[in-house]
Amino acid sequence: MCKFFCTFAADFENDVYENQCMSKTSFSSKVGLIMAAAGSAVGLGNIWKFPYIAGENGGGAFLIVYLICVLLFGMPLIMTEFLIGKRSGKGAYGAFRELNGNNRWQWLSWGYMMTALMIMGFYFVVTGWCFNYLAEAAVNRFAGMDMQALTDNFHNVVSNKPRMLGFCLLPLVLTSAVLLFEVNKGIERLCKILMPLLLLLMMLMAGRVLMLDGSNEGMQFFFQTDFSKITPKVVMEAMGQSFFSLSIGMGALITYGAYMPKTQNVAISSIQVVVLDTLVALLAGLIIFPAVFAFGFNPAEGPELVFVVLPAILGKMSFAWFSSVLFFSLLCIAALTSTISLMEVAVAFLREASANSKHPLSRGQSVLITAGIVALLIVVCVFAGSVFDSFDKLTACVMMPLGALGMSLFVGWFMPNQKNMIKGEVGTIKRWFKKIYIILLRFIVPTSILIIFLNNLGML
Ligand code: TRP
Repeated sequence: MCKFFCTFAADFENDVYENQCMSKTSFSSKVGLIMAAAGSAVGLGNIWKFPYIAGENGGGAFLIVYLICVLLFGMPLIMTEFLIGKRSGKGAYGAFRELNGNNRWQWLSWGYMMTALMIMGFYFVVTGWCFNYLAEAAVNRFAGMDMQALTDNFHNVVSNKPRMLGFCLLPLVLTSAVLLFEVNKGIERLCKILMPLLLLLMMLMAGRVLMLDGSNEGMQFFFQTDFSKITPKVVMEAMGQSFFSLSIGMGALITYGAYMPKTQNVAISSIQVVVLDTLVALLAGLIIFPAVFAFGFNPAEGPELVFVVLPAILGKMSFAWFSSVLFFSLLCIAALTSTISLMEVAVAFLREASANSKHPLSRGQSVLITAGIVALLIVVCVFAGSVFDSFDKLTACVMMPLGALGMSLFVGWFMPNQKNMIKGEVGTIKRWFKKIYIILLRFIVPTSILIIFLNNLGML
């Protein structure tokens, strides 16, 4: 842990140096990249999805399996994405072509672009719910509502399509505005402010919730592992959640890797991102479960946990208005730093794909085109609930596992000059670390993904 923070401190000092040798499109500091990548990883997946999936799958039992998945699959895959991006200097479109010297792996690039668009379709909708809840919290609408009223409220929010559309387009406009700036000015500056703010707010909330009478039971639920509750379903859910939460399998971290300062170490950066993402998921659990138990609610409430149970809990706390606004602001901040990374994949893709054409697209033009396409997808997702569901399922169950499988096979087995590249990026810390990475990447990761994939398709 000490090393983790010391590296951070040293990175801040190095900012000046990095600024001097920064190329036009790279993060201006190591911390900038870490904050942006952690911003991508930390999102609705941590604060909205993690607690409800953990709640449905036995709390502590889920937590332990999740942590193992993060170490065994998340870590090597994040390192792989960063490595591809940093070594090629290209985003999802150009990276495989650059490293392989031909178009043979280009299908993966197109797959990533498709996945990015589909994830954005449903992710912006859930982000829209969060913005809607922030607005409602701000006008104190939840005051005095009981569980039934809150459940009705959730269904009204989701079914009021025109209003919902407005709330979904708002984060799209905000995200596009940030992306109009080059990464070192837009994404980096914003994430450097928002990520520490998010951590601070979450710690404050966790501290507040832990002081509630009866919060112990929630802590027990979250931290006590009942091994009999670990079933194949729990393992599968935990694997899928670790992919989604760490933003793996659709080129987001390849794109950020391309902006990585050349002196930045891939392995250390990956460890830092994994630690931050896991810390936020743990904090989310520490906020939600003690509160759920202190007020006698059911932790296995499902996707509505944040949107129905939380307003009820927040309403019962002292400073109810302030706590609600604080919590939903957190959720919106976390969602926005993730939509930024999702959309940057598409923006960089369009720019690279058009680079050698007669009309290379500027950043502004790529942002506008991407925003137009995403706006259409949002309209479809808002008005056709079945599309929303299938985008969610298809990306999580098929596209992201296949995307991650593709990249692990490429780097593990097929990439030219593979040994040197891995040695150059990963071998610089410890030899045993590199060895473990290679074993995980070549054998454990592909086999496990194949297992999740077949299981998700109902073949196992
Ligand atoms: N990781 C984010 C979350 O936890 C979601 C996300 C952002 C994502 N960018 C991604 C998921 C890229 C997969 C791929 O909410």
